Amino acid sequence: MIVTDVLAPRSGKPRAFVPTMGALHDGHRELMRVAREHVGLEGEVVVSVFVNPLQFGANEDFDQYPRTLEADRAACEAEGVNILYVPTVWTIYGESPSITVDPGPLGEELEGASRPGHFAGVLTVVGILLHQVAPDFALFGEKDYQQLELVRRMCRDLSFPVTVVGVPTVRESDGLARSSRNVYLSADDRRRAAAIPRALKAGSNATSVEQIRTAAIHELNAADLDIDYVEVRSNDLGHDVPEGEARLLLAVHAGSSRLIDNGPVHVGSDGSE
Ligand code: PAF
Repeated sequence: MIVTDVLAPRSGKPRAFVPTMGALHDGHRELMRVAREHVGLEGEVVVSVFVNPLQFGANEDFDQYPRTLEADRAACEAEGVNILYVPTVWTIYGESPSITVDPGPLGEELEGASRPGHFAGVLTVVGILLHQVAPDFALFGEKDYQQLELVRRMCRDLSFPVTVVGVPTVRESDGLARSSRNVYLSADDRRRAAAIPRALKAGSNATSVEQIRTAAIHELNAADLDIDYVEVRSNDLGHDVPEGEARLLLAVHAGSSRLIDNGPVHVGSDGSE
């Protein structure tokens, strides 16, 4: 495995790319496995580790964000990654960048409402990384569903020559989504956080948008989690939710941690409102 902070020009081999901020866990390893499936043994899997300052708000956890490069390197080796790209801030942003990617109206909703500027930071770094790595496939977890949708839109609207692949969320045995930020949870917050997958399950058993929301909110309230939002959206995060498959998205605070998750729901013919 090549570990580098400057990428050589890519070879002609098929290339799949997994951008990360490190603190790699099973969710990232699943992205690497799916990446390998897309390019085969003769192709290249590239993983980047870069804690992107641009996507953290002033009161967020940029300084505390877990940095575990040696363990990350071992995880990449174990998954047969070909190139581990660990750029510096300078390699990504150069001297004084003044251009960022505007995520459009969706960037201000859901996560964007609580985290102003977050998605501009995400799309800017993802755009730069996609140009530098020049992959055929780029893999993102469904755990960050809004990020996945915005990356898809950016690649479509700005004609990035890459196929964006969404990968289902990897979960703990009690259903909590794997996340690098789970390490922040106290034992009590971790126990209460198990209500999140229960809320998604309860929502998936209901049929109208309001019943789906009510069922999910009931589970979260029962665990005394502080709700930021619980929303049902179309699969591409539109406000008009058609009958059929849709997405339940939620964000809660457990102690000092903010947790997000989402899952599929089915809106029945008895009405979307
Ligand atoms: O999902 C993440 O880890 C980050 O938002 C990403 C896509 C690596 C951009 O910094």
